Amino acid sequence: MIVVVGGQKGGVGKTTIAVNIAHEVSQDSKTLLVDADPQGSSANWHFWRKEQNLDACRLYQMKGDLYDPLLDQAELYQVIVVDSGGVDSIELRSALLACDIFVCPVRPGQFDIETLGKMNDVVEKARAQGNRELVARVVLTHTPTNPVMADEKEARAILNELSAFSPVKTSLKYRSAYWRTASAGLAVSEGDDGRATGEMQNLIKEVLNND
Ligand SMILES: Nc1ncnc2c1ncn2[C@@H]1O[C@H](COP(=O)(O)OP(=O)(O)OP(=O)(O)O)[C@@H](O)[C@H]1O
Ligand SMILES: [Mg+2]
Repeated sequence: MIVVVGGQKGGVGKTTIAVNIAHEVSQDSKTLLVDADPQGSSANWHFWRKEQNLDACRLYQMKGDLYDPLLDQAELYQVIVVDSGGVDSIELRSALLACDIFVCPVRPGQFDIETLGKMNDVVEKARAQGNRELVARVVLTHTPTNPVMADEKEARAILNELSAFSPVKTSLKYRSAYWRTASAGLAVSEGDDGRATGEMQNLIKEVLNND
């Protein structure tokens, strides 16, 4: 199974989601984490784990056309998680032709959500080019923990309009546990915030089981 985490916006939580999925599935599946973002944030996270002698799945940094390399690695690994970065790139487009699931995080706020129109077209194009079964999920991140705020509700109304995506029910709320753990080379489940751990696990389940 190949899972690509990407999109067109920076700082929305792509790397956070990619490394946490990779960590979770690597507990019982042979897993490869691919960092295809020149920023190398997933590679840094992996390096910090290795430095502390923590268990870590394999990591490759890749660039350019990922179609053949990903399909080659899919012969060797049960799960491949790709952090494709925050631009509409050759890496993203080629990975979308090879993958099973595309996860596109977005923050609430009209400006971020408007960029999803472009991603919607990119997904439709990947399907038209032959990856007909491509599953595309959009995930809300950095949502307010205050339930009174209307941001999430408003954002969901817009996400429901996207023809190529199905929204993930679980959103990742704005919690310090995400950046505290990531910057220490940890998964959220290795930190001490049970709510963050729970929502990340629910997100991963939904994405992998296509709920
Ligand atoms: N739900 C969240 N709550 C609070 N902080 C978060 C959350 N998700 C991610 N972060 C933090 O926000 C920052 C951006 O997250 P991340 O690096 O995962 O985004 P990205 O989309 O990969 O960014 P880039 O476009 O730079 O690759 C990081 O410091 C991360 O730890
Ligand atoms: Mg990133």
